[in-house]
Amino acid sequence: MPPLRYVNLTPEFAPKCEALELLSFPDTEPADLIDEEGFRAYAKIFPEGFFLCLDGERLVGQGAGIFLDFDFDHPQHSIAEITGEHQCGNHDPDGDWYYGTDIVVSADYRRRGIGKCLYELRKDVVRRYNKKGIIAGGHIVGFADHKHHMSAAEYVDKVSKRELYDATLTFQLDNGFEVRGVLADYLDEPALDNWAALIVWENSDHRS
Ligand SMILES: CC(C)(COP(=O)(O)OP(=O)(O)OC[C@H]1O[C@@H](n2cnc3c(N)ncnc32)[C@H](O)[C@@H]1OP(=O)(O)O)[C@@H](O)C(=O)NCCC(=O)NCCS
Repeated sequence: MPPLRYVNLTPEFAPKCEALELLSFPDTEPADLIDEEGFRAYAKIFPEGFFLCLDGERLVGQGAGIFLDFDFDHPQHSIAEITGEHQCGNHDPDGDWYYGTDIVVSADYRRRGIGKCLYELRKDVVRRYNKKGIIAGGHIVGFADHKHHMSAAEYVDKVSKRELYDATLTFQLDNGFEVRGVLADYLDEPALDNWAALIVWENSDHRS
């Protein structure tokens, strides 16, 4: 079997990216997801920060992000306000951080290391451009099953201490991310009461 290939986003993949996005976030309001037009905008604005994983011609994973500055003294934000139009409108080539806007792997290709490879490619971009690290609003998918007996902050704390497993946040911790708090009204996802985790990976090779 030919190996999986990792390439940067080009505009002709936009319809496939939208289809994968919708399949991967079934409980999120589509308005909070990147649509076909948004993927075309990414391909124009910052394709170096957007990676696809292909099995033959099939798109099986994607990881996206933009550069921006971030105020850790005022960390609360929603995905729409921090990333701007099409979730790449606020891309600032001089920004200090890579903000991860999207990472998904097709359900039938998960748990084979594709997500880790997408993170490694993002980390390579961060090192190459000498950025401080990666920030994201982590999707705490397992919180839906715990929200009736604990707060989002307690849930994230327990996942960080490895007392609970979260299919997304545990994977992010295993890829070197730290939790720096929770984000209220991050996106329109009633099952999670709109919560996300603020996660950060610091680039130890960063030079001031
Ligand atoms: C989160 C997501 C991108 C992870 O992608 P993935 O390709 O499954 O990631 P990986 O395979 O690198 O790692 C996932 C797990 O599989 C394990 N794994 C990796 N290769 C493996 C293998 N060959 N055999 C067994 N387990 C393996 C990893 O150790 C990891 O375990 P962990 O959850 O205990 O940390 C994917 O689950 C997804 O698309 N989820 C839905 C969308 C989403 O929530 N995105 C995040 C937005 S913030």
